[in-house]
Amino acid sequence: MGFSPEWLSLREPVDRQARDADLLAQAVKAAGPDPVILDLGCGTGSTLRAFAGHLPDHARWHLVDNDPDLLQIAKNLGNCDTHVLDLADLQALPLQGVTLVTASALLDLMSADWVDSLVALLADKGIGFYAALSYDGVMQWDPALPRDHPVTEAFNQHQRNDKGLGPALGPDAATVAMDAFARAGFTVTHASTPWRIDADHTDMHRELVQGIAQAASEAGASMTEDWARTRIGMASDSLCLIGHQDILALPPTHS
Ligand SMILES: C[S@@+](CC[C@H](N)C(=O)[O-])C[C@H]1O[C@@H](n2cnc3c(N)ncnc32)[C@H](O)[C@@H]1O
Repeated sequence: MGFSPEWLSLREPVDRQARDADLLAQAVKAAGPDPVILDLGCGTGSTLRAFAGHLPDHARWHLVDNDPDLLQIAKNLGNCDTHVLDLADLQALPLQGVTLVTASALLDLMSADWVDSLVALLADKGIGFYAALSYDGVMQWDPALPRDHPVTEAFNQHQRNDKGLGPALGPDAATVAMDAFARAGFTVTHASTPWRIDADHTDMHRELVQGIAQAASEAGASMTEDWARTRIGMASDSLCLIGHQDILALPPTHS
């Protein structure tokens, strides 16, 4: 799966359906009448596209990623400045004038220390944070297979591997982030936003199963190739739910 433009574009319609509409509306409101939004780990700009039509025309975006090729695609969206930055260096973020910080499918890659640093930074600046689609560890298929459970366990273990910023939070990302923001006095709301991958999204389903099997195998699960072959063969006749969480954290001073 990785972060290829092809994978990001396969998942974007499913992400869009999964996002919680009420939390998105609250995030739009939190961005204020003159929105300047900083999106962390923007990829090709899916968060900007998810906000499209909800913001005034003069809204501005700062899009941050460490992958220049993805940013090159995002650049074409207009209304945005792109920044090739490693999120390890939070002090380098262009926060001047920013009214809301966003992220999508990012927190599960990050470490608890990184989240604590982000919370401290946003608390200091009094800026709210909206993070959509953090994986929460739940994977379910209908019909189920006996190996779904051990594969899921191994995949979740793999999700906790270091992705460059310390041990990744993986399935704990939303819970840990919500606790950290709440401790800093933010008002935190969240919604469960599972992917619902049905017969309309079989290409994504097959790609996802390949990625899960590879990660589970690297984490020590056995028979992942057999599992993947069976799952891929059933993709057009099965429903897959992958658990995610959206969170919104608003600073104490926010009206
Ligand atoms: C799963 S993708 C999500 C992309 C986009 N937000 C979306 O929802 O389609 C994670 C993104 O985070 C970026 N990323 C991961 N680690 C990063 C880091 N240390 N610094 C900057 N960007 C990073 C990746 O390049 C990738 O674009």
